[in-house]
Amino acid sequence: MRLVQVGVGGFGQTWLGRVQRDRDASLVALVDVDEGALQAAQQETGLAGARCFNDLRVAFETVEADAVLNVTPPAVHHEVALAAFERGLHVLSEKPIAESMEHARMMVEAAEQAGRTLMVSQNYRYRPWARTMRRLLQSGEFGPPDNISVRFAKSLEFDGSFRFRMAHPLVRDMSIHHFDLMRALTGREPISVYATTWQPPWSWFEDDPCVAAIFELEGGLKAVYEGTWVTRGRETTWDGYWRVECSGAVIELRSEHVHVIPAGHPDEDAEVELAQETGSGQSAVLEEFQRAVAEGREPETSGRENLTTLAMGFAAMESSRTGRPVEIAKVVGG
Ligand SMILES: NC(=O)c1ccc[n+]([C@@H]2O[C@H](COP(=O)([O-])OP(=O)(O)OC[C@H]3O[C@@H](n4cnc5c(N)ncnc54)[C@H](O)[C@@H]3O)[C@@H](O)[C@H]2O)c1
Repeated sequence: MRLVQVGVGGFGQTWLGRVQRDRDASLVALVDVDEGALQAAQQETGLAGARCFNDLRVAFETVEADAVLNVTPPAVHHEVALAAFERGLHVLSEKPIAESMEHARMMVEAAEQAGRTLMVSQNYRYRPWARTMRRLLQSGEFGPPDNISVRFAKSLEFDGSFRFRMAHPLVRDMSIHHFDLMRALTGREPISVYATTWQPPWSWFEDDPCVAAIFELEGGLKAVYEGTWVTRGRETTWDGYWRVECSGAVIELRSEHVHVIPAGHPDEDAEVELAQETGSGQSAVLEEFQRAVAEGREPETSGRENLTTLAMGFAAMESSRTGRPVEIAKVVGG
């Protein structure tokens, strides 16, 4: 698949290598509004200068491509996607799919009208540990999950990041991975959320980098989530710490390792072997995107499927503002 990568600084740098290592994908053009980022990416990839652009539309007019890999900041995602669909290109977009539910719905509609694929890189759910935990939970071996608790803590200090200025940076840019995992691991859709977000006095973010949320998912499943991007203490991994209580066992994620603790035997803590030892999930995302396009089917994390994940974040923000629980389906539907 011939890809135009839009956004090659920041996390885009990680994507460059992923695409180049993929058997079936190739980079045919690079686009970035920042000249320094573009030059660094050109050097890293060895792509000709004639294939590096600071204007997306010029790239589309100049180079033959099949799809766009969108690694720009969230505020730009919908512009890039709409321009790509206009040119008949498929889109693999970084999360969060868009800055608003309205923009996300516009992207989904534009993809459908153009008959093109829109997939969101919710890479965390494609990681080996997540695939392993999903298999354990959905096999029914330990009985249905009753409650989930997730803790995420980092002290985020990326220089000059858009995250320091955006509204609700933790919920919209990071917790979205964990919210998506709640759905992916259990196969249950979220019903409602009650949440509060806040700024500790020492925060260096313009808006709330902390959240506490209680989700109710289908079948009465409760998920309690706490996250901070300004911890003063020990950090968790990016995936966070997970604990899922089932009638037959407690399943935990600790530092990317999945453990099963049989009910009533807290000392019998067995680590479960993962399919692969490590993995960011990006390679699996790229593979799923290419396969879905080739097979003409909806990808696992399609734009449409992702509206519910995005709505979990917006519902949490609304709940924090109003002090009341918010129904997620209402936020999805608009
Ligand atoms: N899935 C993950 O694990 C993960 C990790 C990090 C970031 N991300 C996502 O990747 C996206 C980018 O994040 P980042 O940290 O790399 O941001 P960043 O600001 O560090 O980099 C974004 C790049 O896009 C470029 N850019 C901005 N506007 C543009 C435009 N209109 N056209 C072309 N290029 C443009 C910038 O110059 C910059 O090089 C975000 O959506 C973020 O949430 C995902």
